[in-house]
Order: sequence, then C-alpha cells, then structure tokens
Amino acid sequence: INIRQATVEDLLQMQNCNLWNLPENYQMKYYIYHEVTWPQLSFVAEDHQGRIVGYVLAKMEEDQSEPPHGHITSLSVLRSYRRLGLASRLMAQSQKAMAEVFDAQFVSLHVRKSNRAALHLYKETMKFDVKDIEKKYYADGEDAYAMRKDLVPGS
Ligand code: ACO
Repeated sequence: INIRQATVEDLLQMQNCNLWNLPENYQMKYYIYHEVTWPQLSFVAEDHQGRIVGYVLAKMEEDQSEPPHGHITSLSVLRSYRRLGLASRLMAQSQKAMAEVFDAQFVSLHVRKSNRAALHLYKETMKFDVKDIEKKYYADGEDAYAMRKDLVPGS
C-alpha cells in the first residue's frame, strides 16, 4: 500500500471512504477547500490498483490568536485495511508537512470519547494529549476529546 499526497482527482474516492467509515460527512466543496488551500497536508493510501483505501484530510487553523497550527479534519481507513499501520503513516506524513511547509507548532484534532481505536492511535502511537472535553460536540450529543500534539522541528 502506497501513501502519497492527495490530488483533486482523489477527492471523490476520499469522500466515499469517509461515507463508509464515519458519521461525520462533508460536502464536496469542503474537500475541495482543503485541497486548494493546503494541498501539501492531505494524504491518501492506495492499493496496487490505485483504489483509495484510507485518507487523512488536514488543514491549517486560521485562528490568528494562537501560533500557527495544523488540524486533522478527518482520518479513516477502510475496514479490511485496518491495523496495518496505514493511519499512523498517513498522520505522520501530514504532521511532517504541517511543520515543514507552514511552520506549524502543534497539531489538533477532535475524537469521540467512545472511539477506542482512534484514541489508541492518537494517545499511544502518535503521543497526543487530551487538552479539553467538548460537551455534545457531535450531532448525536456525544462528547469529544480535543487533543493536541507539539510538533518538534526536524523530528
Ligand atoms: N483497538 C485498539 N487499538 C487499535 C485498534 C483497535 N480497534 N485499531 C488500531 N489500533 C492501534 C494499533 O494497534 C496501533 O497501535 P500500535 O502502534 O501500538 O501498534 C495504532 O492503533 C495505530 O494503528 P494503525 O494500523 O495505524 O491504524 P489503522 O490504519 O487501523 O486506522 C483508524 C485507525 C483510522 C482509527 C481506523 O480504525 C478507522 O478508520 N476507524 C473508523 C474511522 C475513525 O474512527 N476515524 C477517526 C475519527 S477522529 C478524526 O477523524 C480526527
């Protein structure tokens, strides 16, 4: 499985992958917005036939009150391709580009409190910390952990 930067041609397959994997879905214009504004930050995992089996959709936060920082908008891997390290590789590539291209000082994300697999990935594998709990962050009323990780230049 190959990991590479996402292109405009990948967006439909990324959206499709998101629809299979997560209840948080976005209009195509939101994918396009990421791709045209921060083309360096989103990555896809593709199989040998060029099918997208995982993606990370990422951006820089536009909030000027904090130092520059990236945000993981959405990450998912198709069920039969899980536990192969793809999500970790996608996250690592995006974080590297955030730091190198946009001088990001840290990266943030939201995750459901009940999402054990994602929490393991973020906390144990990627070394994110829980910064806050956002009550009823999701449309169905579930709370989110707001997580963060410092990006050390050159690491
Ligand atoms: N239970 C426990 N640990 C798990 C699980 C699980 N179900 N799945 C993965 N892990 C662990 C792995 O063992 C690995 O740990 P290690 O580094 O100690 O060996 C670590 O998490 C990373 O595993 P990867 O293989 O890199 O993760 P994978 O490619 O399987 O993808 C993901 C993980 C993205 C959470 C996948 O399960 C998925 O797509 N889930 C549905 C969508 C989702 O929840 N996305 C995240 C939402 S939050 C957001 O988008 C910001």
